[in-house]
Amino acid sequence: MLTAIIMAGGSGERFWPLSTPKKPKQLLNIFSDKTMIRETVDRILPIIPRENIFIATNELQAKAIKAELKDIPEENIIIEPAFKDTAAAIGYSALVIENRFKDKLTKNEKIEVVVLASDHLIKKEAEFRDIVKLGAKEASDNGIIVTLGIKPNKPETGYGYIEVKEESQLILNEVYKVRRFREKPNLETAESYVASGKYLWNSGMFIFTTETIFKNFDVLMEEHTEIFQSIRKKMTDDIFGLELTNLVRNDFENFEKISIDFGIMEYSKNIRVIPVDIEWNDIGSFNALEEVFEKNDSGNIVRYCEVKEFDSSDNIVIGENITISLLGVKDLVIVKNGDNILIANKNRTQDIKKIIQK
Ligand code: GDD
Ligand code: MG
Repeated sequence: MLTAIIMAGGSGERFWPLSTPKKPKQLLNIFSDKTMIRETVDRILPIIPRENIFIATNELQAKAIKAELKDIPEENIIIEPAFKDTAAAIGYSALVIENRFKDKLTKNEKIEVVVLASDHLIKKEAEFRDIVKLGAKEASDNGIIVTLGIKPNKPETGYGYIEVKEESQLILNEVYKVRRFREKPNLETAESYVASGKYLWNSGMFIFTTETIFKNFDVLMEEHTEIFQSIRKKMTDDIFGLELTNLVRNDFENFEKISIDFGIMEYSKNIRVIPVDIEWNDIGSFNALEEVFEKNDSGNIVRYCEVKEFDSSDNIVIGENITISLLGVKDLVIVKNGDNILIANKNRTQDIKKIIQK
Protein backbone atom coordinates (compact mmCIF):
# COMPACT_ATOMS: atom_id res chain seq x y z
CA MET A 1 0.00 0.00 0.00
CA LEU A 2 1.59 3.24 -1.14
CA THR A 3 1.44 6.23 1.22
CA ALA A 4 3.16 9.61 1.46
CA ILE A 5 4.43 11.83 4.23
CA ILE A 6 4.81 15.44 3.21
CA MET A 7 7.10 17.19 5.65
CA ALA A 8 5.93 20.68 6.37
CA GLY A 9 7.49 21.67 9.63
CA GLY A 10 10.43 23.80 8.62
CA SER A 11 10.41 27.49 9.39
CA GLY A 12 11.72 28.73 6.04
CA GLU A 13 13.66 31.56 7.61
CA ARG A 14 15.65 32.26 4.48
CA PHE A 15 12.59 33.74 2.78
CA TRP A 16 11.89 36.44 5.31
CA PRO A 17 10.09 38.87 4.97
CA LEU A 18 7.90 36.84 2.62
CA SER A 19 7.92 33.86 4.94
CA THR A 20 7.13 33.94 8.63
CA PRO A 21 6.84 31.12 11.19
CA LYS A 22 3.10 31.00 10.46
CA LYS A 23 3.58 31.24 6.72
CA PRO A 24 6.78 29.44 5.76
CA LYS A 25 8.08 28.73 2.30
CA GLN A 26 5.68 25.85 1.61
CA LEU A 27 2.76 28.25 1.93
CA LEU A 28 4.19 30.79 -0.50
CA ASN A 29 3.31 30.96 -4.14
CA ILE A 30 6.25 32.89 -5.55
CA PHE A 31 7.26 30.11 -7.89
CA SER A 32 3.92 29.33 -9.50
CA ASP A 33 0.27 30.25 -9.04
CA LYS A 34 -0.11 27.58 -6.41
CA THR A 35 1.55 27.29 -3.02
CA MET A 36 4.46 24.87 -2.87
CA ILE A 37 2.63 22.45 -0.62
CA ARG A 38 -0.37 22.41 -2.96
CA GLU A 39 2.00 21.65 -5.82
CA THR A 40 3.55 18.84 -3.79
CA VAL A 41 0.19 17.22 -3.12
CA ASP A 42 -1.05 17.65 -6.70
CA ARG A 43 2.17 16.19 -8.06
CA ILE A 44 1.68 12.93 -6.19
CA LEU A 45 -2.13 12.64 -6.36
CA PRO A 46 -2.16 10.75 -9.67
CA ILE A 47 -0.44 7.80 -7.94
CA ILE A 48 -1.40 8.10 -4.27
CA PRO A 49 -5.02 8.58 -3.14
CA ARG A 50 -5.67 11.51 -0.79
CA GLU A 51 -6.61 9.13 2.04
CA ASN A 52 -2.99 7.87 1.92
CA ILE A 53 -1.33 11.29 1.90
CA PHE A 54 -0.22 12.56 5.30
CA ILE A 55 1.11 16.00 6.15
CA ALA A 56 3.58 16.31 9.03
CA THR A 57 3.47 19.78 10.52
CA ASN A 58 3.28 21.65 13.83
CA GLU A 59 0.82 23.67 15.87
CA LEU A 60 1.90 26.97 14.34
CA GLN A 61 1.19 25.96 10.76
CA ALA A 62 -1.56 23.36 11.05
CA LYS A 63 -4.44 25.79 10.58
CA ALA A 64 -3.04 27.37 7.43
CA ILE A 65 -2.16 23.96 6.01
CA LYS A 66 -5.65 22.59 6.62
CA ALA A 67 -7.12 25.64 4.90
CA GLU A 68 -4.79 25.18 1.97
CA LEU A 69 -5.34 21.42 1.64
CA LYS A 70 -9.07 21.08 2.24
CA ASP A 71 -9.20 17.91 0.15
CA ILE A 72 -6.81 16.01 2.44
CA PRO A 73 -8.69 14.22 5.25
CA GLU A 74 -8.29 16.15 8.49
CA GLU A 75 -7.11 13.04 10.33
CA ASN A 76 -4.13 12.91 7.92
CA ILE A 77 -2.76 16.22 9.15
CA ILE A 78 -0.23 15.16 11.78
CA ILE A 79 0.51 17.93 14.25
CA GLU A 80 3.80 17.55 16.12
CA PRO A 81 3.83 19.10 19.59
CA ALA A 82 7.48 20.22 19.35
CA PHE A 83 10.13 21.05 16.74
CA LYS A 84 12.30 17.94 16.86
CA ASP A 85 13.52 17.82 13.26
CA THR A 86 12.97 15.12 10.67
CA ALA A 87 14.05 11.93 12.49
CA ALA A 88 11.26 12.37 15.03
CA ALA A 89 8.84 13.79 12.45
CA ILE A 90 9.32 10.91 10.01
CA GLY A 91 9.28 8.17 12.64
CA TYR A 92 6.20 9.59 14.33
CA SER A 93 4.34 9.97 11.01
CA ALA A 94 5.27 6.41 10.08
CA LEU A 95 3.70 5.34 13.40
CA VAL A 96 0.49 7.16 12.58
CA ILE A 97 0.41 5.55 9.13
CA GLU A 98 1.14 2.09 10.52
CA ASN A 99 -1.64 2.51 13.06
CA ARG A 100 -4.10 3.65 10.38
CA PHE A 101 -3.54 0.82 7.92
CA LYS A 102 -2.21 -2.13 9.91
CA ASP A 103 -5.57 -3.90 10.03
CA LYS A 104 -6.41 -3.20 6.41
CA LEU A 105 -3.49 -4.93 4.74
CA THR A 106 -3.86 -8.09 2.72
CA LYS A 107 -1.55 -11.01 3.45
CA ASN A 108 2.14 -10.11 2.88
CA GLU A 109 1.19 -6.57 1.91
CA LYS A 110 3.57 -3.89 3.18
CA ILE A 111 3.12 -0.19 3.74
CA GLU A 112 5.43 1.78 1.47
CA VAL A 113 6.06 5.35 2.50
CA VAL A 114 7.34 8.13 0.26
CA VAL A 115 8.74 11.00 2.28
CA LEU A 116 8.60 14.32 0.45
CA ALA A 117 9.59 17.85 1.34
CA SER A 118 6.76 20.33 1.01
CA ASP A 119 8.81 23.07 -0.53
CA HIS A 120 10.74 21.73 -3.48
CA LEU A 121 10.19 22.32 -7.17
CA ILE A 122 10.09 19.39 -9.56
CA LYS A 123 9.46 20.21 -13.18
CA LYS A 124 9.42 16.74 -14.73
CA GLU A 125 6.41 15.51 -12.82
CA ALA A 126 5.53 12.41 -14.84
CA GLU A 127 9.11 11.12 -14.62
CA PHE A 128 9.09 11.84 -10.91
CA ARG A 129 5.95 9.73 -10.42
CA ASP A 130 7.47 6.83 -12.36
CA ILE A 131 10.54 6.97 -10.12
CA VAL A 132 8.41 6.99 -6.98
CA LYS A 133 6.64 3.86 -8.19
CA LEU A 134 9.94 2.17 -8.99
CA GLY A 135 11.41 3.24 -5.64
CA ALA A 136 8.41 1.90 -3.74
CA LYS A 137 8.73 -1.47 -5.41
CA GLU A 138 12.47 -1.64 -4.68
CA ALA A 139 11.93 -0.56 -1.09
CA SER A 140 9.29 -3.19 -0.59
CA ASP A 141 11.08 -6.05 -2.35
CA ASN A 142 14.50 -5.45 -0.77
CA GLY A 143 13.89 -3.89 2.64
CA ILE A 144 15.94 -0.83 1.77
CA ILE A 145 15.71 2.94 2.03
CA VAL A 146 15.61 4.44 -1.46
CA THR A 147 16.93 7.93 -2.06
CA LEU A 148 16.72 10.02 -5.22
CA GLY A 149 20.11 11.38 -6.27
CA ILE A 150 20.71 14.58 -8.19
CA LYS A 151 23.82 15.27 -10.23
CA PRO A 152 25.63 18.08 -8.38
CA ASN A 153 26.70 21.23 -10.21
CA LYS A 154 28.25 23.15 -7.32
CA PRO A 155 29.79 22.37 -3.91
CA GLU A 156 26.58 23.15 -2.01
CA THR A 157 27.16 22.64 1.72
CA GLY A 158 23.48 22.57 2.65
CA TYR A 159 22.87 19.17 1.08
CA GLY A 160 23.57 15.56 1.79
CA TYR A 161 26.04 13.76 -0.52
CA ILE A 162 25.62 10.18 -1.65
CA GLU A 163 28.65 8.21 -2.76
CA VAL A 164 27.82 5.70 -5.44
CA LYS A 165 29.81 2.59 -6.18
CA GLU A 166 29.99 2.54 -9.96
CA GLU A 167 31.02 6.11 -10.38
CA SER A 168 31.42 7.04 -14.03
CA GLN A 169 28.66 5.24 -15.85
CA LEU A 170 25.59 5.94 -13.81
CA ILE A 171 22.40 5.31 -15.70
CA LEU A 172 19.41 7.46 -14.88
CA ASN A 173 16.48 5.74 -13.17
CA GLU A 174 18.50 2.64 -12.24
CA VAL A 175 18.95 1.58 -8.63
CA TYR A 176 22.45 1.63 -7.10
CA LYS A 177 23.93 0.57 -3.80
CA VAL A 178 25.19 3.47 -1.73
CA ARG A 179 28.73 3.38 -0.46
CA ARG A 180 28.37 6.25 1.93
CA PHE A 181 26.05 9.11 2.84
CA ARG A 182 27.49 12.37 4.17
CA GLU A 183 25.15 15.09 5.36
CA LYS A 184 26.12 18.74 4.93
CA PRO A 185 29.90 18.47 4.51
CA ASN A 186 32.09 21.55 4.87
CA LEU A 187 33.02 23.49 1.74
CA GLU A 188 36.38 21.83 1.25
CA THR A 189 34.88 18.36 1.49
CA ALA A 190 31.95 19.29 -0.75
CA GLU A 191 34.41 20.57 -3.36
CA SER A 192 36.34 17.31 -3.30
CA TYR A 193 33.11 15.31 -3.60
CA VAL A 194 31.92 17.25 -6.62
CA ALA A 195 35.36 17.04 -8.24
CA SER A 196 35.53 13.27 -7.71
CA GLY A 197 32.42 12.69 -9.82
CA LYS A 198 31.39 9.91 -7.46
CA TYR A 199 28.75 11.74 -5.51
CA LEU A 200 25.14 12.69 -6.00
CA TRP A 201 23.16 15.20 -3.98
CA ASN A 202 20.50 13.80 -1.74
CA SER A 203 17.22 15.32 -2.87
CA GLY A 204 15.71 14.93 0.61
CA MET A 205 13.08 12.44 -0.55
CA PHE A 206 13.08 8.92 0.89
CA ILE A 207 11.14 5.77 0.12
CA PHE A 208 10.89 2.80 2.52
CA THR A 209 8.40 0.47 4.13
CA THR A 210 7.28 1.15 7.70
CA GLU A 211 8.96 -2.14 8.64
CA THR A 212 12.32 -1.03 7.21
CA ILE A 213 12.35 2.40 8.78
CA PHE A 214 11.52 1.05 12.24
CA LYS A 215 14.25 -1.58 11.87
CA ASN A 216 16.69 1.20 11.10
CA PHE A 217 15.52 3.19 14.11
CA ASP A 218 15.92 0.05 16.27
CA VAL A 219 19.53 -0.39 15.27
CA LEU A 220 20.68 3.21 14.87
CA MET A 221 18.49 5.37 17.08
CA GLU A 222 17.58 3.32 20.11
CA GLU A 223 16.34 6.29 22.09
CA HIS A 224 13.90 7.26 19.37
CA THR A 225 12.71 3.65 19.26
CA GLU A 226 11.91 3.69 22.97
CA ILE A 227 9.81 6.82 22.55
CA PHE A 228 8.03 5.30 19.54
CA GLN A 229 7.16 2.28 21.70
CA SER A 230 5.66 4.52 24.32
CA ILE A 231 3.61 6.34 21.67
CA ARG A 232 2.55 3.09 20.01
CA LYS A 233 1.01 1.88 23.26
CA LYS A 234 -1.14 4.99 23.56
CA MET A 235 -2.42 5.18 20.00
CA THR A 236 -5.98 4.16 19.26
CA ASP A 237 -7.90 4.16 16.00
CA ASP A 238 -10.14 7.09 16.77
CA ILE A 239 -7.70 9.68 17.99
CA PHE A 240 -6.14 12.27 15.69
CA GLY A 241 -5.51 15.99 15.30
CA LEU A 242 -4.81 18.09 18.38
CA GLU A 243 -6.10 15.38 20.67
CA LEU A 244 -3.29 13.12 19.44
CA THR A 245 -0.83 16.01 19.69
CA ASN A 246 -1.69 16.43 23.36
CA LEU A 247 -1.45 12.72 23.98
CA VAL A 248 2.16 12.57 22.73
CA ARG A 249 3.32 15.95 24.02
CA ASN A 250 5.45 14.54 26.84
CA ASP A 251 6.94 11.85 24.63
CA PHE A 252 7.96 14.45 22.09
CA GLU A 253 9.87 16.41 24.70
CA ASN A 254 12.16 13.38 25.03
CA PHE A 255 13.19 13.24 21.37
CA GLU A 256 16.67 14.41 20.58
CA LYS A 257 16.46 17.15 17.95
CA ILE A 258 18.19 15.58 14.97
CA SER A 259 17.50 15.11 11.28
CA ILE A 260 16.94 11.74 9.61
CA ASP A 261 20.06 12.44 7.58
CA PHE A 262 22.38 12.75 10.59
CA GLY A 263 20.50 10.15 12.62
CA ILE A 264 19.94 7.36 10.12
CA MET A 265 21.15 8.05 6.60
CA GLU A 266 24.79 8.58 7.58
CA TYR A 267 24.92 5.18 9.30
CA SER A 268 22.38 2.90 7.65
CA LYS A 269 23.69 -0.06 5.69
CA ASN A 270 20.46 -0.38 3.72
CA ILE A 271 20.45 2.64 1.44
CA ARG A 272 20.19 2.68 -2.31
CA VAL A 273 19.97 5.57 -4.70
CA ILE A 274 18.24 6.21 -7.99
CA PRO A 275 20.03 8.87 -10.05
CA VAL A 276 17.29 11.09 -11.44
CA ASP A 277 16.87 14.02 -13.77
CA ILE A 278 13.57 15.56 -12.75
CA GLU A 279 14.56 19.25 -12.80
CA TRP A 280 14.57 19.37 -9.04
CA ASN A 281 15.26 22.54 -7.11
CA ASP A 282 15.03 22.84 -3.34
CA ILE A 283 14.73 26.63 -3.56
CA GLY A 284 17.11 27.27 -0.72
CA SER A 285 17.11 31.04 -0.99
CA PHE A 286 15.82 33.99 -3.03
CA ASN A 287 18.74 33.41 -5.42
CA ALA A 288 17.02 30.23 -6.63
CA LEU A 289 14.53 32.48 -8.43
CA GLU A 290 17.29 32.99 -10.97
CA GLU A 291 17.36 29.26 -11.67
CA VAL A 292 13.60 29.16 -12.13
CA PHE A 293 12.66 32.38 -13.93
CA GLU A 294 14.07 34.19 -16.93
CA LYS A 295 15.58 37.58 -16.27
CA ASN A 296 13.83 40.54 -17.90
CA ASP A 297 15.45 42.57 -20.67
CA SER A 298 17.57 44.55 -18.27
CA GLY A 299 18.67 41.45 -16.37
CA ASN A 300 16.48 41.70 -13.29
CA ILE A 301 13.98 39.24 -11.88
CA VAL A 302 10.76 40.91 -10.86
CA ARG A 303 7.81 39.20 -9.19
CA TYR A 304 4.43 40.83 -8.55
CA CYS A 305 5.51 44.48 -8.44
CA GLU A 306 6.15 47.24 -10.92
CA VAL A 307 9.78 48.15 -11.37
CA LYS A 308 11.26 51.26 -12.93
CA GLU A 309 14.84 50.54 -13.78
CA PHE A 310 17.81 52.59 -14.77
CA ASP A 311 21.32 51.16 -15.17
CA SER A 312 20.42 48.30 -12.87
CA SER A 313 20.83 44.61 -13.44
CA ASP A 314 21.04 41.20 -11.75
CA ASN A 315 18.65 42.21 -8.99
CA ILE A 316 15.78 40.16 -7.58
CA VAL A 317 12.76 42.29 -6.73
CA ILE A 318 9.58 41.06 -5.07
CA GLY A 319 6.68 43.02 -3.59
CA GLU A 320 2.96 43.41 -3.91
CA ASN A 321 1.07 46.64 -4.72
CA ILE A 322 4.20 48.70 -5.02
CA THR A 323 6.43 50.32 -7.58
CA ILE A 324 10.11 49.95 -6.89
CA SER A 325 12.63 52.14 -8.69
CA LEU A 326 16.16 50.94 -9.24
CA LEU A 327 18.99 53.29 -10.07
CA GLY A 328 22.52 52.07 -10.67
CA VAL A 329 22.23 49.00 -8.45
CA LYS A 330 23.38 45.47 -9.06
CA ASP A 331 23.16 42.11 -7.29
CA LEU A 332 20.57 43.19 -4.75
CA VAL A 333 17.64 41.28 -3.35
CA ILE A 334 14.78 43.65 -2.59
CA VAL A 335 11.68 42.19 -1.00
CA LYS A 336 8.69 43.99 0.46
CA ASN A 337 6.00 42.27 2.47
CA GLY A 338 3.60 44.29 4.59
CA ASP A 339 5.55 46.62 6.83
CA ASN A 340 8.85 44.88 6.20
CA ILE A 341 11.42 45.53 3.52
CA LEU A 342 14.57 43.52 2.98
CA ILE A 343 17.46 44.97 1.02
CA ALA A 344 20.27 42.46 0.83
CA ASN A 345 23.37 41.73 -1.11
CA LYS A 346 22.67 38.68 -3.27
CA ASN A 347 25.73 36.93 -1.85
CA ARG A 348 24.40 37.22 1.68
CA THR A 349 20.94 35.71 1.41
CA GLN A 350 22.03 32.61 3.35
CA ASP A 351 22.42 34.93 6.34
CA ILE A 352 18.88 36.28 6.40
CA LYS A 353 18.22 34.19 9.49
CA LYS A 354 20.63 36.47 11.34
CA ILE A 355 18.16 39.32 10.86
CA ILE A 356 15.37 37.22 12.31
CA GLN A 357 17.52 36.23 15.26
CA LYS A 358 18.12 39.91 15.90
N1 GDD B 1 7.08 17.92 10.17
C1 GDD B 1 8.31 18.41 10.26
N2 GDD B 1 8.88 18.53 11.50
N3 GDD B 1 8.96 18.77 9.14
C2 GDD B 1 10.19 19.27 9.29
C3 GDD B 1 10.84 19.43 10.53
C4 GDD B 1 10.12 19.04 11.71
O1 GDD B 1 10.58 19.16 12.86
N4 GDD B 1 12.07 19.96 10.30
C5 GDD B 1 12.18 20.11 8.96
N5 GDD B 1 11.04 19.70 8.34
C6 GDD B 1 10.73 19.66 6.90
C7 GDD B 1 11.06 20.91 6.14
O2 GDD B 1 9.89 21.73 6.05
C8 GDD B 1 11.46 20.37 4.78
O3 GDD B 1 10.29 20.15 3.97
C9 GDD B 1 12.07 19.00 5.08
O4 GDD B 1 11.54 18.64 6.36
C10 GDD B 1 13.60 18.98 5.12
O5 GDD B 1 14.05 19.79 6.16
P1 GDD B 1 15.12 20.93 5.90
O6 GDD B 1 15.41 21.60 7.22
O7 GDD B 1 14.71 21.79 4.77
O8 GDD B 1 16.38 20.06 5.51
P2 GDD B 1 17.62 20.54 4.67
O9 GDD B 1 17.20 21.23 3.44
O10 GDD B 1 18.55 21.27 5.57
O11 GDD B 1 18.32 19.13 4.26
C11 GDD B 1 17.59 18.06 3.70
O12 GDD B 1 17.20 18.32 2.36
C12 GDD B 1 18.31 18.48 1.41
C13 GDD B 1 17.71 18.71 0.03
O13 GDD B 1 16.92 19.84 0.02
C14 GDD B 1 18.50 16.82 3.77
O14 GDD B 1 17.72 15.67 3.49
C15 GDD B 1 19.68 16.93 2.81
O15 GDD B 1 20.41 15.72 2.80
C16 GDD B 1 19.17 17.21 1.40
O16 GDD B 1 20.27 17.35 0.50
MG1 MG C 1 15.43 22.16 2.80
